[in-house]
This record gives sequence, structure tokens and C-alpha cells, in this order.
Amino acid sequence: MNDLAGKHLVLGLTGGIAAYKSAELARRLQDRGATVQVVMTESATRFITAVTMQALTGRPVFTDQWDARQPNNMAHIDLSREADAIVVVPASTDFLAKLANGLCDDLLTTMCIARDCPLLVAPAMNLQMWSHPATRRNVARLVDDGVVVLGPASGDQACGEVGSGRMLEPHEILDDVIAFFQPKRLAGRRLLITAGPTREPVDPVRSITNHSSGKMGYAIARAAHEAGADVMLVSGPVSLATPRGVVRIDVETARQMHDVVMREATRADCFVAVAAVADWHVLNAADHKLKKTTTVEAGDGHAVPGLELRFEANPDILAAVAALPSPPYCVGFAAETEDLHGNAESKLARKKAQMIVGNLATEAFGRDDNALTLYTAAGRTVLERADKLVLARQLVAAIADRLPSTESR
Ligand code: CTP
Repeated sequence: MNDLAGKHLVLGLTGGIAAYKSAELARRLQDRGATVQVVMTESATRFITAVTMQALTGRPVFTDQWDARQPNNMAHIDLSREADAIVVVPASTDFLAKLANGLCDDLLTTMCIARDCPLLVAPAMNLQMWSHPATRRNVARLVDDGVVVLGPASGDQACGEVGSGRMLEPHEILDDVIAFFQPKRLAGRRLLITAGPTREPVDPVRSITNHSSGKMGYAIARAAHEAGADVMLVSGPVSLATPRGVVRIDVETARQMHDVVMREATRADCFVAVAAVADWHVLNAADHKLKKTTTVEAGDGHAVPGLELRFEANPDILAAVAALPSPPYCVGFAAETEDLHGNAESKLARKKAQMIVGNLATEAFGRDDNALTLYTAAGRTVLERADKLVLARQLVAAIADRLPSTESR
């Protein structure tokens, strides 16, 4: 996907063992459509060569503030003026300290001070260096100065110690850079989202579920976070990674999903019910594994091998949230196999939701793309077939357009 099409990034490297991950990041940024100009400090060249970065980006690397290649000999100005952002990966303790204090004794720091574009930094250092009071002060000052700090993460460090200060992985930095460029149309808003299937037990080793992959709900959670929202995702069992920055609560059954959602819904500005919730649970679920010798009564009164399940309706989570005294803006999904328009319109009225997002289950479940129709009291909007993340961003923009202001709740 070309999330970064048209974006030109300066990728700054400072001295740290995590510099080897910048090679992968340079590649991934370009896969998403960005052009990348690398600037390295002298220390960075001790960890990874300029040749590697040049080969990966197709552009000569700048390492020296006295580099005379720019016609006006002002690489520190020219390189940043062309950039949509400077992203420093890894950002060493020394680099952060210099930046926080306005020092500029090499090309990268001079360029950062001289820039007129956003600056993102991904710190990478030993846990003692990260927790040192000087680093804490420097990072706080950088945040105050408007620098975006990505991570760091916690975990195994190159020095053998374990703790905070480890650089984010290239794919996480990539997601954060993509998110940075998305318009913040939901800043300060809270979104509660359900996703995936639910699983209703038959016995301790068997259950009834459906084919929902969770991909659409997860894409919406990601898009909402990118748009600046505070996002809580209540998820049925899926094998998907939690989008960065999203709080996820795992549930199995529809009743568990209902309980979590009802606890959280009063604090949400918007509830997006994407989960394919089971309509029923098994009333006579067994608390031990059912054997295949289990019998049921045949028509003639004899016991024959078989299994009889009785079902009871699950609570309708979307309808319950929409019926709260002061409900959030409610968005439901209608996954239909026939009469999409009729079913979606009737769900809009029946569930008292403000929006129903209609799609054909046969063309959506498990796939990476989808096509959506948004139904509101004002009419229909068609979102043409596209990747689920592209659609999710369009849906989030449509929700942002319609979301009442916080004061009106
Ligand atoms: N939904 C819900 N709780 C349920 C069932 C559905 O919150 N117990 C939500 C879904 O997350 C979705 C919307 O309601 O946003 C519509 O779900 P769907 O399964 O299509 O509709 P049903 O209510 O099951 O109606 P029908 O069986 O007529 O299709």
C-alpha cells in the first residue's frame, strides 16, 4: 500500500547497534512510496556503512557537514527543506542530549536545528542510559519542543541486559511514521470497537463460531488510532497483531463481549460494532468433554447415538449500547448474503444506530479487501472496493464528519 506516496523523508542515523535495523526501515519506507535521503553521523558509520544505505535508497549518503556536493554548500538547509519529516533511527543518548540543548556540531544535529519540518526520533540505548535523570530531562524537553518520540520498547538488549530503552522494530517505526502523517480528525475522542467472531462453547474442547477474521475491525481500530483517537478494542478470538497504540481486551463469548462493552460504553464518544457476534449460546453446554457414545432419544423413544443442543439468544450488544440513556454515536455492521440494502436499512432502524455499514459477507470474510455502503438517516454513501485499511480510513473520516461534539452528549 502506498501510504507514504509523495512523502520525502530524511532518515538520520546516529551511533548505536540498532543502526543495522535502519537498513530494513529504509527499505520498508520506500515500499510504502516514500523517497528516503540518508544522513549519518560519524559514529553511525562505525555500525553500518554508508554504502549499504546508499545501495538501499539509491541516493548518495551525507555524513559530513563540510560535504561540498550541494551547490551552495548548505546541505544542512537544503536536505531538510526538501523533507516532509526527518526521522532519526536510531537516536542515541548523545544525539538526544545535543538536540535538547541546541548543540549542532555535525551535519545531522545542525540539520535538525535548521529544519522547518517535523522531527521524529526513535531512541535506542541501554536501560541505565534511558533511565538516567539527564536522559529523562532531555527527552521531556524534546517532547516540549514538539519532537515526536517513538518508543522505546522494553526487552532484550544487545548488551545482554533486559529493560526499557530498546529501539522499536522497523515495522513498528514504519507504522508510527505512517500514523504521523494521517490527519488527526479524532483527536481527543474515545472509540470503543468490537471485532472478530465470538466463540460459544459446546463443551470444554468444542465450540460454535463463525468465519470472521477480525481484519476489518482491526483495520478500523488502527485507522482510528492514526486519526488521534483513544481506542479500545474488544476482540473475539483472532490471530491478528494488536494495532500500535490500541488497548485490546480479549473475550470469547458474546456474553463476555457484552459485559466488557457495557462497562466501557458510557465513556466512549463512538461505539463501532464490527464483531460478528453469535446470536445464540448453547444452553445445555457440557462441563466435561462429550463422548461420541452420547445418546439422544429417537422418535420411537429409543436412545440412539447423537447430540441435541438447545440454544438461547445472546444479548444484542449494539442495541443495548444504543439504548443507554446517553449513548455514544453508534455504528453497526451488516454482513449480509442477500438483500444488503433492505437488511441494512432495517438494522439501522431496529438497532437505533446512527450508522450501519453494509457489506456482503461472501465478499468480505477473511479477505484483505472489501466494499462498503454507509447507511445513515441522511442516505447512503458507497465506499468502492479497496484494501480494508484504506476503507477503514475512509470510514473513520466519515465518522469524524458526523460525530457530535463532546459538549452535546
Ligand atoms: N451485533 C451485536 N450483538 C449481537 C448481534 C449483532 O452487537 N448479539 C451487532 C454486530 O456487531 C453488527 C450488527 O449488530 O454491528 C449487526 O449484526 P448482524 O449479525 O448482521 O445482525 P443481527 O442482529 O444478528 O441480525 P440478523 O440475524 O437479522 O442478521
